[in-house]
Amino acid sequence: MGKLQDKVAIITGGVSGIGAETAKLFASEGAKLVLVDMNEEKGNAFESELKSNGVEAFFLQADGTNEEQVKNIYTKTISAFGKLDILFNNAGIGAVKPTEELTYAEWRRTVEVDLDAVFLFAQAAVKEFLKADGGVIVNTASMYGWVGSPGSAAYNAAKGGVINFTRSLGLEYAERNIRVNAICPGFIETPILGETDREFLSNATPMKRLGQADEIAKAVLFLASNDSSFMTGNSIIVDGGYTAQ
Ligand code: NAI
Repeated sequence: MGKLQDKVAIITGGVSGIGAETAKLFASEGAKLVLVDMNEEKGNAFESELKSNGVEAFFLQADGTNEEQVKNIYTKTISAFGKLDILFNNAGIGAVKPTEELTYAEWRRTVEVDLDAVFLFAQAAVKEFLKADGGVIVNTASMYGWVGSPGSAAYNAAKGGVINFTRSLGLEYAERNIRVNAICPGFIETPILGETDREFLSNATPMKRLGQADEIAKAVLFLASNDSSFMTGNSIIVDGGYTAQ
């Protein structure tokens, strides 16, 4: 029996990078999946791939910053699977720009996607979990929620916000069988890195390489499963040693 046998999980940003790798791992542990993403093309392709491998999964195109669309995802999840057990609150965007050049609109969009949407999905999940007998939330923050770095102030502020949101939510529902934790990746080889110089990122990492999405997925599985049953309001940093420096 899998670690997530018959559990129902919503995964945001679930069709690319860390989210997609986690979706495959969750499925291999018996989970049923609702994959949420803005990218319809990737979403439809990934849904077909999973279904052809016998996974119970469907893709819903949505912008996680739109409250109505988020509500709709929960309605469709409950009507398809009858319950929700896990939210992997993982969608995000990067924003690399010197602060003096960052527009207010760019700041707002970064915080909206990387922090506000995390709230919207978590709140909707908590409402479902309170009706049932609990559940699990894993939020994707970043090692940049723990340390600063030049050129990505908006992103870092949002990710720091996710870490303290996670602490607060974990405490708020600790007695209601709702566990809330965060995963904090270092530099991981996914499309979010765009054109960023891989050699520079590898050299900045004590292990002298980028992480792979499956190395994050394994830690997410730990947080989403009963293996972490005594853990809430906290984070796991998986960063090749970056924040130990
Ligand atoms: P990715 O770009 O492969 O995946 C992110 C997904 O989120 C994309 O499919 C994108 O379409 C989706 N997305 C973006 N905005 C959205 C919105 N408003 N509504 C719905 N979906 C939206 O990148 P990756 O690396 O897999 O990112 C996953 C999470 O990991 C993000 O929160 C990111 O900030 C975080 N992270 C990534 C690191 C890395 O080095 N790759 C390092 C630390 C954190």
